[in-house]
Amino acid sequence: MDRRHLSKSVLSCSAMACSRAAPTRARATSEIESMSPITASGITPAASARSAPPSAATTRGATARAADSAGAPSPETAPAPARAAPGAAVGLDPQEAVAGAQALAAAATDLAMLRENLAGFDGCGLKLSAKSLVFADGTSGARVMLVGEAPGSEEDRQGKPFVGRSGQLLDRMLAAIGLDRSSVYIGNVIPWRPPGNRTPTPQEVAACMPFIRRQIELADPDFLICLGAPSAQALMEISTGILKARGRWQDFDTGKRVIRAMATLHPAYLLRQPSQKRLAWRDLRALRRALDAGAGDAATGSDAGG
Ligand code: URA
Repeated sequence: MDRRHLSKSVLSCSAMACSRAAPTRARATSEIESMSPITASGITPAASARSAPPSAATTRGATARAADSAGAPSPETAPAPARAAPGAAVGLDPQEAVAGAQALAAAATDLAMLRENLAGFDGCGLKLSAKSLVFADGTSGARVMLVGEAPGSEEDRQGKPFVGRSGQLLDRMLAAIGLDRSSVYIGNVIPWRPPGNRTPTPQEVAACMPFIRRQIELADPDFLICLGAPSAQALMEISTGILKARGRWQDFDTGKRVIRAMATLHPAYLLRQPSQKRLAWRDLRALRRALDAGAGDAATGSDAGG
């Protein structure tokens, strides 16, 4: 793609100028319990049956309300908004925004440059209302990369993914399988907080997709974990609901190589539906097994069990 043909509205000066300034085994039950008011694996079937699966038909209003209680967009319901929400449209041609994103993402030769190019990208209106660009946390080059949907208010304030309530639960989930932020790398499909934690529009997702895809390629993990339906739908192209899709390993072509990817439940959803932690726990154990077995082996074909 020749970036000279892209409009200034998409490729801002800073981006154009950037020629680049460049195991542990699963923890004991007590730690798992700290993920949940009940043991993560010990919920009764009756209790689990009581918590209804999230409805795909959830309206955006309900989604936003639910998200507000967790400080982040509702991750399990990914309704396709019928129209762009306020703040989404900034008069950009959507195709031009995507083309600009593709050019900037492809031009980045490392994560620092990708971040710089993203910061200079003006093709997503969410940048206008967000305080921070929330790019990543953790360690690039880690074997595990986790990808959420979009930052919430605390993430926007601190400029880091998953530092609010759902992030605290995510930290406990990781700790339960012997991981922490130094042993994973964390990003989001959308790097700017949607106002009021509303669901990002398809246009906003499309404009940001080249960046998260390139971020995965450059971070080069062995395992990709998509947190919640919006992330899984965007990256793994799952068409079923998250409760059906979660826990199943599938191939993911990063652009550099094929790795294993799995969708699991988003911590914000688990805060609202604690009884579902037993499912997330299964997925985490599958990840732990895959890590222990070495890249590929335990993650081949099998799933974490529904
Ligand atoms: N939810 C997400 O999907 N990402 C964050 O960074 C925080 C909450």
